Amino acid sequence: MTDSPSAPAFEVSELVKSYRGITAVNKISFSVARGEIIGFLGPNGAGKSTTMRILTGYIPATSGTVRVCGIPVATRAEEVKRIVGYMPENNPLPEDMRVSEYLYYRGRLKEIPRSRLGPRLDEVLERCDLTRVRHRILGQLSKGNRQRVGIAEAILAEPPVIIMDEPTIGLDPHQILIVRDLIASLRGRMTVIISSHILPEIEMTCDRVLIINRGQLVAQGTPSELRREFLGRTRYLVEYAGDSALLAGSLRLIDPTLQIESPPGEGTGEASRAESPDGFRKVFLTTRQESDQGESIIRILAAQPGIRLRSFTHSHASLEDVFLAATKRSWDIVDSPLPR
Ligand SMILES: Nc1ncnc2c1ncn2[C@@H]1O[C@H](COP(=O)(O)OP(=O)(O)OP(=O)(O)O)[C@@H](O)[C@H]1O
Ligand SMILES: [Mg+2]
Repeated sequence: MTDSPSAPAFEVSELVKSYRGITAVNKISFSVARGEIIGFLGPNGAGKSTTMRILTGYIPATSGTVRVCGIPVATRAEEVKRIVGYMPENNPLPEDMRVSEYLYYRGRLKEIPRSRLGPRLDEVLERCDLTRVRHRILGQLSKGNRQRVGIAEAILAEPPVIIMDEPTIGLDPHQILIVRDLIASLRGRMTVIISSHILPEIEMTCDRVLIINRGQLVAQGTPSELRREFLGRTRYLVEYAGDSALLAGSLRLIDPTLQIESPPGEGTGEASRAESPDGFRKVFLTTRQESDQGESIIRILAAQPGIRLRSFTHSHASLEDVFLAATKRSWDIVDSPLPR
């Protein structure tokens, strides 16, 4: 095996995949450094699974190049499969095998020597919280356990890189937490790419995010870089009682770009701003200025006799906002049929 330790985990250049009449992946290029945990995001049909299948050597690309740890996947797919732990979408499992029997069989296929496989299996079952169900039939497992069998299989041979296609789909919050911890425990030892629709999940686990839409890479960066690029704004949540017109007037003096909005679900416009029985209401203040205005805003509001301030918080935009902005921007740009 010629896994070159100095090569990036993934180097993807101008990757294209066309199915008959459909360009599922359209000139995607990116690189992933060793040890990074990458979140792969995109709406349904964006091309995430297709890209992952190509990266793991399971389907060929139409054009473009992919190197995994320096190995070109187009000509050496079998070698790539050996160094990538892959949990495919929907994680198909043979229904009639038992958990440990199945993982043992997969371990042998991955050429883990018999002498090492037993202890490694115990370790992985423990790590994936599967020891209690190791003798159960796969077809009778709960969804959470099935997902964790998929993850166990992906990490079994201790590959340098792991690709998991929606590892937390359909899981309850408790199971999501277990899977999140499991992925976090791989940090520093393996390079991981996971796709997910659960954005807070990605934000908590991943170092960097790639967003694809209609087969094209529309954004990449850390969540905070993406917030800056796509939202270009800072938001504060203010809880106050008093004259709204006075609040608006005094704030616009310090920042003319400041917008005042009601939080979602609390109506819009001056009249409908939700008010609690004691006369306090919450509003978002949004500024496009780069410098932090928080301190000046608090000072101005605290000095207004007609306004009582109860709380003031910096409100972080969610990755959902970035995702919607990034995919909307690309829909706006690509409004003609996709090139073939
Ligand atoms: N085997 C195939 N034959 C024809 N078209 C396909 C095939 N696999 C995927 N596609 C098409 O390619 C596009 C990308 O699909 P892909 O499954 O990669 O998206 P995805 O981002 O994984 O979506 P999801 O979030 O729903 O899993 C879609 O239009 C899909 O219908
Ligand atoms: Mg998919």
